[in-house]
Amino acid sequence: MLFAISTEMMIGAVQLGVVAACIVLLVPMAMAGWHLSRNKMLFFSGVLFISLAVCVHLTPYFPAVSDLVTSVSSIVVFDHRVSCINSVNEIVWDVKPKIHVQIGDANSSSDYYDKNWDWAKTSKVSACDFQKLSKSDASDLLNGSWVVVSGDSQARLVALSLLNLVLGSDSTRMESVRCDLFKRHSDYNIFVDEIGMKLDFIWAPYVTNFTSLIREYKRKKSYPDVMVMGAGLWHMLHFTNASDYNDDLRILRNSVVSFLPFSSDLGTNGPVTGSESIRSPHLFWLGMPVLINSMLNTQEKREKMGDAMWHAYDRALGYSRLLRQTGGPLVLLDIESLTWNCGPRCTADGMHYDVAVYEAAVHVMLNTLLIESHQKL
Ligand SMILES: *[C@@H]1O[C@H](CO)[C@@H](O)[C@H](O)[C@H]1NC(C)=O
Ligand SMILES: *[C@@H]1O[C@H](CO)[C@@H](O)[C@H](O)[C@H]1NC(C)=O
Ligand SMILES: *[C@@H]1O[C@H](CO)[C@@H](O)[C@H](O)[C@H]1NC(C)=O
Ligand SMILES: *[C@@H]1O[C@H](CO)[C@@H](O)[C@H](O)[C@H]1NC(C)=O
Repeated sequence: MLFAISTEMMIGAVQLGVVAACIVLLVPMAMAGWHLSRNKMLFFSGVLFISLAVCVHLTPYFPAVSDLVTSVSSIVVFDHRVSCINSVNEIVWDVKPKIHVQIGDANSSSDYYDKNWDWAKTSKVSACDFQKLSKSDASDLLNGSWVVVSGDSQARLVALSLLNLVLGSDSTRMESVRCDLFKRHSDYNIFVDEIGMKLDFIWAPYVTNFTSLIREYKRKKSYPDVMVMGAGLWHMLHFTNASDYNDDLRILRNSVVSFLPFSSDLGTNGPVTGSESIRSPHLFWLGMPVLINSMLNTQEKREKMGDAMWHAYDRALGYSRLLRQTGGPLVLLDIESLTWNCGPRCTADGMHYDVAVYEAAVHVMLNTLLIESHQKL
């Protein structure tokens, strides 16, 4: 209901606002023109104020007017949600040298630093009241859902962070998850029975792999509730052709829009296909990390994955209009800004970052889900 705002309603609401503003501004001005005394002006302003207040209080008794008021407030709510989803990636880092770390204990230079993050303290971001979810909040939110995380090693690290949150980082179960998940280039499935959550990690180094995956879901008429996708680095290394990457992304966008029971309205449940109603999946794009060229571990990577190529790939993503901010279906998990802000002290190989970065991405995703599933204003 919150999102069923017709254009007429919106225009009606705007007109009403304009009329009200005119009354409040023009009537006292006109009176001033009639050379009324200051006391009379105050009296008329008071009368005007009281009449408007009475109108506001009477609106519930006049259905048409109260519809209008509801629609105005839902526009405000809608804007608030959109603006919060736009600022959910605004995270700041506090990276400090660790006090107690022996040279021998650290496996990489990034082990020498403590990394803490939080949402920026600007008024716009604070108004959204983003929160790091506890294990139990995350479990409530994901209870009974099917989550698919698909992509390259960045996506694998996100899947690991999500499981870490839901299972608890210390559990012995987490140890075996870590072990299985890191078998190179393979898929991984887990069913967390406490909360009935199914998580699939699908190894998919190329964008074309997502397109096949989505075709497969379409064929089986079975869609995940949450789907995170992200690929680009493999293409950059093996094809080094941003325009080809852009083509792949466009094809992906088209298949998402046409194959998934996807509704362009933010957070509404999807359209009905056949007789069964299908919930619209929540879709995320996992952005590329900032690459620190001098830290990359092979000569080939350092040559092919330079800054200029990285930016060409980033622009290709923009041109593809895959992301919500360019009118597309996927919400960005902005790994670029997370990795850029965390900086070189958060990575050992210039490509894979500290767990804190992927943990932040998971909380960005969960906060977006809270907003989209209307559990938060
Ligand atoms: C370094 O790696 C070892 C073995 O993988 C691990 O036990 C240890 O905790 C790591 N050290 C740090 C500081 O992360
Ligand atoms: C998950 O949801 C089911 C029913 O919807 C409920 O019985 C169960 O307690 C929930 N589990 C958690 C961990 O929230
Ligand atoms: C991903 O796509 C590439 C290129 O289209 C293909 O060669 C590869 O087999 C696919 N991988 C998976 C895991 O589907
Ligand atoms: C890049 O890919 C496009 C589209 O696939 C192709 O037409 C073009 O020739 C490629 N460019 C290079 C330099 O390989």
